Amino acid sequence: MSAEFTILGRGRAGRALAAAWRGRAALLPHVERPDGLVLLAVPDHAVAELAEAFPGRCVHLSGSLQVPEIPCAHPLTSFDGEPRDWNGTPLALTGAVPPVLRQAFEVLGFRPFELPGALKPLYHAAAVLASGHAATLWLGADALLRTHGIDLPGRGLWPLAEATLRNLQLHGSAGRTGPFARGDLETIQRDAAALPEGWRDIFLALGKALD
Ligand SMILES: NC(=O)c1ccc[n+]([C@@H]2O[C@H](COP(=O)([O-])OP(=O)(O)OC[C@H]3O[C@@H](n4cnc5c(N)ncnc54)[C@H](OP(=O)(O)O)[C@@H]3O)[C@@H](O)[C@H]2O)c1
Repeated sequence: MSAEFTILGRGRAGRALAAAWRGRAALLPHVERPDGLVLLAVPDHAVAELAEAFPGRCVHLSGSLQVPEIPCAHPLTSFDGEPRDWNGTPLALTGAVPPVLRQAFEVLGFRPFELPGALKPLYHAAAVLASGHAATLWLGADALLRTHGIDLPGRGLWPLAEATLRNLQLHGSAGRTGPFARGDLETIQRDAAALPEGWRDIFLALGKALD
């Protein structure tokens, strides 16, 4: 199969999508200048300058960035360079994304929706809260336990992570557990006092964030 478009940038997003699309998309380093439609899979800070090399024929992947005249397709997922099951994953479209690209994402299971450019930073900040910041919390919790010599047996924090997401998926906000959801004030104060200052502030601020 000859490639219908080119992905520029062999990072996590570029490699994962190229592998999933197989021969449908070529994958090249960002220094190349291919003909035809180009999907820019490069760091956000490089998008605007690189797009000048492909006037009217490129699309970028950044969820936050709005470059005038450059359409965007933002997959609401966390890539690791490998093709995964993306069935039902939202794909935010801003501007005139060519139908061939939209259809290529749909074949992989992505679900397109239109996102106005002015809402992109808010949309992306929400995504960072749900993904990168959630990862920071899990990694921070793991480090706190290890620092204090608590070596969890079995699968460690994973069963808690899985149960938390399962309850949220099944019950929405009613699936949130813990002392803040229950209103256990003494437990909150005791737990907060046990934390280093930086984590204490985060612990208390996050506990009240939905009030
Ligand atoms: N990772 C995710 O989960 C995710 C999810 C949704 C959207 N996105 C978006 O996808 C885009 C790429 O993200 P990524 O996570 O794949 O990035 P990445 O893993 O950091 O890879 C970016 C690639 O861009 C190229 N590159 C590096 N420095 C560059 C520079 N100064 N100028 C131009 N190209 C450069 C390199 O590829 P070559 O060596 O091949 O040139 C590099 O592998 C970003 O706009 C990001 O917002 C990412």
